[in-house]
Amino acid sequence: MIWLMISGKTYINDSVKPGSIAGSFETAWESPSNIALVKYWGKSGDQIPMNASLSMTLKHALTRTSIRAIPKKQSSDTVALSYLFEGVNQPAFTAKIEKFLIRNANLLSFLKDFSIEVESSNTFPHSTGIASSASSMSALALGLLSLEVHFSKKEITADEFLQQASNLARLGSGSASRSVYGGYAMWGNIRLYPGSSDLWAIPVNENIHPLFSKLNDSILVVDSREKSVASRAGHERMNEHPFREGRMVQVENNLASLQDALINGNWDVFARIVENEALTLHGLMLSSDPGFFLIQPNTLVVIEKLRAFRDRHNLKITYTLDAGPNLHVLYPNENLEIIREFIQKELSPMCAGHQVIHDTTGEGPAPII
Ligand code: PMV
Repeated sequence: MIWLMISGKTYINDSVKPGSIAGSFETAWESPSNIALVKYWGKSGDQIPMNASLSMTLKHALTRTSIRAIPKKQSSDTVALSYLFEGVNQPAFTAKIEKFLIRNANLLSFLKDFSIEVESSNTFPHSTGIASSASSMSALALGLLSLEVHFSKKEITADEFLQQASNLARLGSGSASRSVYGGYAMWGNIRLYPGSSDLWAIPVNENIHPLFSKLNDSILVVDSREKSVASRAGHERMNEHPFREGRMVQVENNLASLQDALINGNWDVFARIVENEALTLHGLMLSSDPGFFLIQPNTLVVIEKLRAFRDRHNLKITYTLDAGPNLHVLYPNENLEIIREFIQKELSPMCAGHQVIHDTTGEGPAPII
């Protein structure tokens, strides 16, 4: 993407280039996954979150997506899509994307005149506790929006582009709305954050304390099998959840404390809130009707080991969990060596195939054309 400065505003120039087939155009984006520190859990209507959430964008866990738009013989309302994931046709993924395109065709008018060929791949393995829907839906949204802007010849500022991409990403997967921004991002309307919205995420990187500007996230792959309950079903169980109201109050308080901790460099508050959010997410699952759990015995074993290590050494180390059994171990760069050694020696044997993926805070998506 080329950003143009005109009268003090940054405008999108082009991230789209002509393809090899006559009249065709191509774009490609890479977009990262993110890990929520305050969790989004529960939604209504068209992907409207029950509560606001805040996440850290990752650096190495990326989806790369290229989209080629080929002119249709005749303009039509039908979505024409071919989709390859890591070079292979995956009917379930194709069906999901087709449904997404049909539902959001009003935002993508070029789909009337162009069929699209999408190819996507991840830099991280499947089912490792890294949210692939966040990286894949944000990469897809950025690519589709680049084509839409290109074909409609819209004049659009960089801020508007990212906001619209975040909105489109949200419609595919809520957490994907936050991946459009690097550093820290929040999604969901909350008084504490002016400009926050249920429709798109906003970056929250102003005044972040140096302690949190680069945070390590080592992902312990406790279990790499498919989840027993998909996020969609989990979100649904918040509709009638007896703790729903209390959860919304808790989020407001946790977001306020987390914002404070991020700005003032208060590690203890940060760790307390992040762990409270992780355990609450899984507590909400356990107390749903019907209840379910995604953590595994080894999830608890590694948490216990981490706590004991922290007590022994008095180091800055904490953890969070996504909707799955795998632990995200968070720590700043100080004491990296001793923490990595601990992870390697004591925690990785508790992981499937001893698998640990080291990531860190990332700067957000980029065009790769
Ligand atoms: O984006 P979804 O619908 O897959 O939901 C993700 C929910 C959590 O990952 C558990 C929390 C979050 O805020 O990312």
